[in-house]
Amino acid sequence: MNEPVRLKKLFDLSGRRAIVTGSANILGPEFAAALAEFGARVAMVDVDGAAVRDKAARIAAEHGTEVRAFEADVTDEAAAARVVADVVAHWGGLDVLVNGAACKTPEYFKPFDDYPLADWSRVLDVILTGTFLFTKHALPWLEKSGHGAIVNISSQYGVVGPDPALYEGSWYLDQQINTPPVYSAAKAGVVGFTRYMATTLASRGIRANCITPGGVASGQNDVFQARYAERCPLGRMARREELRGALVYLASDASSFVTGHNLVVDGGWTAR
Ligand SMILES: NC(=O)c1ccc[n+]([C@@H]2O[C@H](COP(=O)([O-])OP(=O)(O)OC[C@H]3O[C@@H](n4cnc5c(N)ncnc54)[C@H](O)[C@@H]3O)[C@@H](O)[C@H]2O)c1
Repeated sequence: MNEPVRLKKLFDLSGRRAIVTGSANILGPEFAAALAEFGARVAMVDVDGAAVRDKAARIAAEHGTEVRAFEADVTDEAAAARVVADVVAHWGGLDVLVNGAACKTPEYFKPFDDYPLADWSRVLDVILTGTFLFTKHALPWLEKSGHGAIVNISSQYGVVGPDPALYEGSWYLDQQINTPPVYSAAKAGVVGFTRYMATTLASRGIRANCITPGGVASGQNDVFQARYAERCPLGRMARREELRGALVYLASDASSFVTGHNLVVDGGWTAR
């Protein structure tokens, strides 16, 4: 008779090696900490070297696992190759890749009619090209692991358009616009890229999924939070730690038959 499958074992990430890009600010450290809590060794990658080193040291201390920090720009192919090679040299392989880097450019909030090409291009580059580059260089090692998992980070604005009334008169007023269209374009691209990877990498034993977070509370003013709460079925913004479970599920064998999925964690925002 077969051994019963223990759910705890399926979520266990002991021995697994992970890379998390864009891991120095709000959600990235949550993703890294979640993987570390379940036993993985984690390489945290961010363009902000000081912040990512600080976060990595804290997570390592809290969870007693190896957490390494890499200062790198995800749009730099040589840097992506170097990070992957370094992780493999230290830990012997790679099992999980989380693509989460995103940026705000100098004129990120400019109205669409005047939107500078440079800002448009840079946002697409960091979100989409960065995801492409890390995926490309991680692939051989994810395949070798036998249970490679890619988790890309999209956004609710990759699925639905923003409600302009949410932002009126709020803390973004002086900037006239909330989330720019390039963010939606890039995040919708992440969902499409994930599905392409899912169907084409399945034969190589690699799964690809994405997480679509809704708005996360991170110091927005009371007006904004109240308006957000009115529009969100669960009546509030997400707490940053509420993204952890989705990540561990998609990174681990608990989701071994799940690929090409977009796991929406938005309090019901896109269900309307
Ligand atoms: N916080 C939210 O409400 C929310 C909602 C939906 C989706 N998301 C997505 O979740 C992910 C993480 O969210 P967050 O709130 O922590 O975002 P954030 O903007 O606070 O952090 C993104 C991180 O990426 C890093 N980064 C920027 N450019 C980079 C580059 N070229 N190379 C490497 N790193 C770079 C930044 O330094 C930062 O640490 C992002 O993809 C974001 O779009 C966030």
